[in-house]
Amino acid sequence: MDTDQTVLDYPFEHPGSLDLHPLYAELRENAPLARVRMPYGGEAWLVTRYEDIKRVLADHRFSRGATLGKDHPRVLQAIPTARSIVTADPPEHTRLRSLVSKAFTAERVERLRGRTQEIATRLIDGMIELGPPVDLVQAFSMPLPVTVFSALLGVSVDDRDRFNYWVDAIRTIGALPPDEVQRARLELDRYLAGLVAQRRRQPSDDILGALVAARDDQDRLSEDELITFGVTLLIAGSDTTVNQIGNFVYTLLTRPDSLSRLREDRSLLPGALDELLRMTPMGTTAGVARIAREDVELSGGVVRAGEAVFVRIASGNRDRAVFENPDEFDITRSPNPHIAFGYGVHYCTGAQLARMELEVAIGSLLERLPDLRLAVPPEDVTWKYDRLLQGPWSLPVTW
Ligand code: HEM
Repeated sequence: MDTDQTVLDYPFEHPGSLDLHPLYAELRENAPLARVRMPYGGEAWLVTRYEDIKRVLADHRFSRGATLGKDHPRVLQAIPTARSIVTADPPEHTRLRSLVSKAFTAERVERLRGRTQEIATRLIDGMIELGPPVDLVQAFSMPLPVTVFSALLGVSVDDRDRFNYWVDAIRTIGALPPDEVQRARLELDRYLAGLVAQRRRQPSDDILGALVAARDDQDRLSEDELITFGVTLLIAGSDTTVNQIGNFVYTLLTRPDSLSRLREDRSLLPGALDELLRMTPMGTTAGVARIAREDVELSGGVVRAGEAVFVRIASGNRDRAVFENPDEFDITRSPNPHIAFGYGVHYCTGAQLARMELEVAIGSLLERLPDLRLAVPPEDVTWKYDRLLQGPWSLPVTW
């Protein structure tokens, strides 16, 4: 195919499992700035090379804010209207990020490690009590991040069930009637408003308390911004970790050599996690667009002002200009400058938290269930491909 001339229909058909469509490798080689037709809003550019992706993510001339309320090229039908850290551009984004980073410190995340470990231990105890085979998604990877989140936000034990229900309702959009999702969202907003008010009266040491207290000169986050950020965190930070725990366990269980190396030498875990992050496409597609404010030159040509650009991070992570044998899974790969958490001003706020959760989750499974293996043939695992993030629907395991 002459990928340089063609307008390709996007997203590409999913090749199955956690594989990346072979067309990305071809585009990196022959058409690094490819023209694609999106399901909604018309045509756009698709960027697939590592250096170009970093350039788009780091260049303020590519705007997230310009997509708000506009009929632009996109994967999902709905036009985004919510103002949040994800859709803001500098200087509004800079202000939000600087306040938020006062709460999201490495030290606070490290303090959550012990609590996360307790939660992981309790969930594995539950699996052992049930006995094999167990669905790892239901028993472990789903409950872990939401429970960590309630600890993060300071949700009391009495409110956990209601909180879990709301979070589940808003993140499984599509599975429930729209009015039920809407009601759950309103109730969650009201609940978060209550938590914020409590922390204004009585400061607390959880992340929500730190966000309420965060100040920059005379500035601080408004009531609405605090609630929006709480919900953004829940959306950006729960499905991501749920899916990646399932994806990472699947990847390790289907690569016995790497798995036994890791079991023998647990100090390889942090490097193995980086390699899992590099190799696992978390999104089913290139996600959401940025709009060029001016003409910008990339290696494959010029993006004109007003045009939409998508970056496929998972493709950048397989670029042989940066990674030797990029399609090989090597838990000792070093250096490993992957961009799984993004790059530039929108770099993942939760990267440290995600790393900590993944390290505790995978580390605990290796430690407590040394014979962990799939209870079904790998090809029988079913995958969520019809949403923005991919992961196994269920992962039957035995030990
Ligand atoms: C393995 C897990 C995760 C991965 C691979 C991941 C990846 C990413 C990526 C690639 C971006 C940048 C998106 C862009 O520029 O378009 C991002 C942004 C973001 N992530 Fe994560 N993430 C993960 C977990 C989390 C967690 C646990 C949290 C919450 C605590 C979180 C909160 C956010 C937020 C708030 C943003 C938006 C930041 C901004 O726009 O300034 N993420 N993430």
